[in-house]
Amino acid sequence: MSRECTRFLKTFKLNYPIVQAPMAGVSTPEMASAVAASGGLGSLTLSHVDLQDTSAVSAIRKAVNSFLSTAGADPQKANLNFFCHPIYPIPTVRQKENWNNLYCEVLETKDLKSPLKFDNGNVSFKSIETQENSDIFLSLLTFFETEFTPGVVSFHFGCPSSSSIQKLKKLGIAIFVTATSEFEGEELLKLGVDGIICQGYEAGGHRGCFPGNEVHLDEGLSTLCLFKRLQEAKNKLGSEAFLIPAGGIMDSRAIQFYLDQGASACQLGTAFLAAAESKSSKFYRDLIKSHHKISTTLTPFPSGLPARTLQTPFIERLASLSQGKDLPPYGYRYSEFKLLRSKFPSLVNFHLCGQGVNQIQTGRDKCLSTAEIFSRLTQDLVVPAD
Ligand SMILES: Cc1cc2nc3c(=O)[nH]c(=O)nc-3n(C[C@H](O)[C@H](O)[C@H](O)COP(=O)(O)O)c2cc1C
Repeated sequence: MSRECTRFLKTFKLNYPIVQAPMAGVSTPEMASAVAASGGLGSLTLSHVDLQDTSAVSAIRKAVNSFLSTAGADPQKANLNFFCHPIYPIPTVRQKENWNNLYCEVLETKDLKSPLKFDNGNVSFKSIETQENSDIFLSLLTFFETEFTPGVVSFHFGCPSSSSIQKLKKLGIAIFVTATSEFEGEELLKLGVDGIICQGYEAGGHRGCFPGNEVHLDEGLSTLCLFKRLQEAKNKLGSEAFLIPAGGIMDSRAIQFYLDQGASACQLGTAFLAAAESKSSKFYRDLIKSHHKISTTLTPFPSGLPARTLQTPFIERLASLSQGKDLPPYGYRYSEFKLLRSKFPSLVNFHLCGQGVNQIQTGRDKCLSTAEIFSRLTQDLVVPAD
């Protein structure tokens, strides 16, 4: 067991070096509080919060209150997760038409059953770093200072400015950011973040590539390869940042392996998809019980940014018909896609999950609770006594 792991446990007062991955649309505050109460770091996804609206802090308070409603869930064991992609331009009329025509073709219908809205479903943290929204950023800082100081605030799809990072750190909050490549990791080490989520190619969900990198600079490194490269970079720079591998880690042996290699902790998402507290528990439990061949694929099409998802006939058809089309940017495209999914739930089969999906654990007669899954993940772990 590494010195890094001991330092991680002490810093966040945890019993186990496990971070439950934030999973927008799937994980819940109840899942996060169950993980925190079990001695790990629980994550709350906040990418759905409209940070440009004055109600943003109330929405965050609501998520935090659900987290706190479980005994043992202390703020230090909470990770509040935001997206930090660029502020994308609103879609053009042409892009909206292309999208409409595409899905009419994919779903073999003339009518998508609703007027096109194209709201921006995922508002980036970047939008409160602008002059016009500086009041919202200030109220968020006040909320963190006076009501709820989380142990960690984390970012996916890039990172905020150095000045925002410093403001959060000043409140005693540790900053974690996802990296998918050596280049991104090195940038984060130089920026002085407290932790790097080393997200490998195996990982479920969207790749947290920095803006633009997903197109040309994504080498598709495995979790182990990325972790090793960043470990070397960290040692060279003499950095104290925690390195947290994420992607394909499904059991205690895999966690132990990374800890023995010097990881500070491991972040797991797919392992919790069928937990009773997950919004997809029934879907994954039925899937695993069906004994069907299950595989995953990486695709940018439903949302506009690359994500690992279950390979389904719908995804294959969408990918083949989307090639070369000028479509609305992420956020707007994803929000419209979710509306469409609610209208055609049996046809639009899009389920984010990692390569480890086949190893998801389910109970015989009912879903395992998050606490039960957590207990299985930790039962054989050799964790430092102190
Ligand atoms: C359904 C799903 C949704 C996700 N949503 C987010 C998110 O909102 N924020 C984030 O930082 N990471 C998100 N991720 C990525 C995870 O943080 C993590 O990198 C990944 O789950 C690790 O790989 P694994 O799924 O193989 O354990 C998501 C992953 C999944 C499976």
